[in-house]
Amino acid sequence: MAIDVQSGPGGFAGEVRGADLERAGDFSAIHRAFLDHGVIVMRDCSLTPEAQIAFSRRFGPLMGRRPSTPDKVLMPGLPEIVILSNRKVNGETVGITDAGRYWHSDLCFEEKPNMATILHAVEVPPEGGDTLFADLQQAYETLPDTLKSRIDGKRAAHTFRKHYLEVMAAGSPRPPLTQEQFEALALNYHPIARTHPETGRKTLFVNPGHTTEIEGMDEAESQDVLDALFEHCLQPEFIYRHQWKAGDTVIWDNRRVMHNAEPYDMDRYTRHMHRSCIHGDKPY
Ligand code: OGA
Ligand code: MN
Repeated sequence: MAIDVQSGPGGFAGEVRGADLERAGDFSAIHRAFLDHGVIVMRDCSLTPEAQIAFSRRFGPLMGRRPSTPDKVLMPGLPEIVILSNRKVNGETVGITDAGRYWHSDLCFEEKPNMATILHAVEVPPEGGDTLFADLQQAYETLPDTLKSRIDGKRAAHTFRKHYLEVMAAGSPRPPLTQEQFEALALNYHPIARTHPETGRKTLFVNPGHTTEIEGMDEAESQDVLDALFEHCLQPEFIYRHQWKAGDTVIWDNRRVMHNAEPYDMDRYTRHMHRSCIHGDKPY
């Protein structure tokens, strides 16, 4: 069967049909669709963790253990897979229970942020738990000139500390980071408008979860510009909502999109996902 891509408005987000993640020959079509659409969805994948790792490696080296990820949520024996889950085994949570419930780009606070995330749904709730994606390439291209000139050539600071401290203070059930991990959480500056290294297109590289300030601006002005950028990015025409089915594999380009996982009723339902992350380059 030929590989076919169905895409949403503006070419953003696409469903790739007829591709087999385990067939090496299908990879170039999948990779093309990933670059063209920023988010790609594949349904009905029966993907073992080993097969997910092998498939993910075709994109590039995997990220594995990070200072921002508690060791307890890494798949035993396969640390390239992070478990997102509210399942408990012997009374203990096996994954991050409340991952990504805010607008962010994965690991953007690292010196070389994540290039792509591959998320495979093992079990999903019948309602809630959708993931929203915002296309920051279209957002950049439609940015009013007045706002564009305020960010021209500027960099912004990114950190995981702020979000981590907020969720822990709010009583997150996730396993805590060790003191050593917390101290290793760096703060990095990246260009606000970055150039996608593979497509050459410009995208906005800021998000409400991890971007704290604009370099060289006073606090009030920095917050003002960031708020205006976020308001622009979160217009409905830039957003794709993914409603999960078990067996879905979704791949997103963290250089181009930000995302937000919606909550679900964790007392009634189980949501169990396997996540792998691919290393990216230093943004420019
Ligand atoms: C994450 C994340 C999204 C989801 O783990 O970083 O954003 O839908 N997850 O679980
Ligand atoms: Mn995420």
